[in-house]
Amino acid sequence: MIQRSVHPPQPVEITPPESDLMIVTLDGPAGAGKSTIARQLADRLGFAFLDTGAMYRAVTLVAVRNRGPWDDPQALAELARQCQIEMEGGRVHLNGEDVSELIRLNEVTSHIHYLADNWAVRERMVALQRAFAEGKDIVTEGRDQGTVAFPKADCKIFLTASPEERARRRVQELQARGEQVSVAEVLALQNERDRRDSTRKVGRLEPAPDAIDVCTDGMSPDEVVEQLVEIVRERMQRTDG
Ligand code: DC
Repeated sequence: MIQRSVHPPQPVEITPPESDLMIVTLDGPAGAGKSTIARQLADRLGFAFLDTGAMYRAVTLVAVRNRGPWDDPQALAELARQCQIEMEGGRVHLNGEDVSELIRLNEVTSHIHYLADNWAVRERMVALQRAFAEGKDIVTEGRDQGTVAFPKADCKIFLTASPEERARRRVQELQARGEQVSVAEVLALQNERDRRDSTRKVGRLEPAPDAIDVCTDGMSPDEVVEQLVEIVRERMQRTDG
């Protein structure tokens, strides 16, 4: 495991224990290939991986099963507070049930904004994300990881691709699964998600001021991972030295 220090030397007699752990945040819009890339990056570095979108999906699944109530933010926040989410080995467990596939259903995706726009839900998710990261080297992926969840992260990456390229990749993915959709259809839904993600009052999608922008247009997933490994290693050397 690669280690680094995040605290400068303290000019006092008793110094707090130094953290040798590294946090890499990977934020960006839907369809930029973040999840696959973040997972591979974590594997290459030997770090833990956290898919925070899956956490929002899991609390949304709870709400879908409960039929909302969609017009009651406090009740939704309470649902989020009561459920237990565990992320282990690439699987998502909700109150002990493996929901890794269920959280990808369209019915979940189309209701996420009720939970993701709810500040009390976000507060709970951020607390869980920080608890998950404790004591680990981690790559964490989402929308607000470098801005809200881990503003002091050692290495922040903002991964983008043009809307057309993201839509084309999504269409290829769906076609591989036997679903027939047009780029125009996917682009329209994607634009709506982008709008919601970048205009929500808390935890909106935006690069942290100290994030490194990586545009993946025209790059293969392997090439992107390679570039990110370089960025993180370079950052580690700089902070270690
Ligand atoms: O990455 P994804 O598509 O699985 O994310 C699902 C939704 O969750 C997405 O519409 C935005 C939201 N989300 C969020 O608001 N904050 C995060 N850190 C991660 C995801």
